[in-house]
Amino acid sequence: MNQAEKELYLREYSVLKSQGKPFYPYAVAKDAVMAVFVMIVIILLSLLFGAELGPKADPTTSTYVPRPEWYFFFLFEVLRVIKPPVFTPFATIGVPTLCMIGLFLLPFYDRSPERWIGRRPVALAAGLATIAAIAYLTYEGAAAGSPNSVDMKPPATLSASQVQTFNAGKLVVGQSGCLACHVIGENGNNGPGPPLTKIGDKLRPGAIASTLINPTAPMPSFKQLSEQSPQKFQNLVNFLAELR
Ligand code: HEC
Repeated sequence: MNQAEKELYLREYSVLKSQGKPFYPYAVAKDAVMAVFVMIVIILLSLLFGAELGPKADPTTSTYVPRPEWYFFFLFEVLRVIKPPVFTPFATIGVPTLCMIGLFLLPFYDRSPERWIGRRPVALAAGLATIAAIAYLTYEGAAAGSPNSVDMKPPATLSASQVQTFNAGKLVVGQSGCLACHVIGENGNNGPGPPLTKIGDKLRPGAIASTLINPTAPMPSFKQLSEQSPQKFQNLVNFLAELR
């Protein structure tokens, strides 16, 4: 802002200030009336329509897919696509905090006196890009698959029927909660169990099956799965045996 602009601004400001009314009590009174009005509307709405409750919580479900509220889908998506655990804090806390700090410091680095948006191409582009990015991430987050799944392609050496077993076993891993304790490829938690990304190198199928049936605590036994759904269990073992 140059000297002439500054003087013009200060002149306009003092004229407006001498004509206007002070914030207290005029604006405060208006705000208070409006706040009371909004509260009354909300109370009336809740009395007339009530709040919608979802289905009752079911502690026995094993197929529940945790999801954030829709307005957090963009953050959820950032967390979902950034897989290596070391980057997780950066993705979830770092990126939003940097954006907030950038916004907070805006008056310090954007010193342009220009107010018409057409003459502020950088601000306009940055604003539109932010809206577009959040809209895209929100959409992707809403459309994302189950967080309990393994994103891994079958090795190219497998035959068509082996690929089928591989994919079926992958599904069983997702449903059985292995990722809560094991890393497989880029999915899952690092510990308390060891990574299984290359477990096929270490254990033969027979050893994998007996680990699943008679594991060392805290790993739960999957004996029940082997008895109730032998096919699923076999697919699971075959899938793990292919991880090399
Ligand atoms: C509650 C956590 C937990 C869950 C859930 C879990 N595991 Fe484990 N798993 C462990 C731990 C801990 C070990 C290491 C045990 C030990 O020290 O011998 C282990 C060991 C293993 C091993 C042997 C690894 C090795 O290098 O010898 C295999 C294979 C395995 N788990 C597969 C699975 C599969 C497949 C599932 C899902 C069907 C699963 N685990 C679910 C905690 C878990």
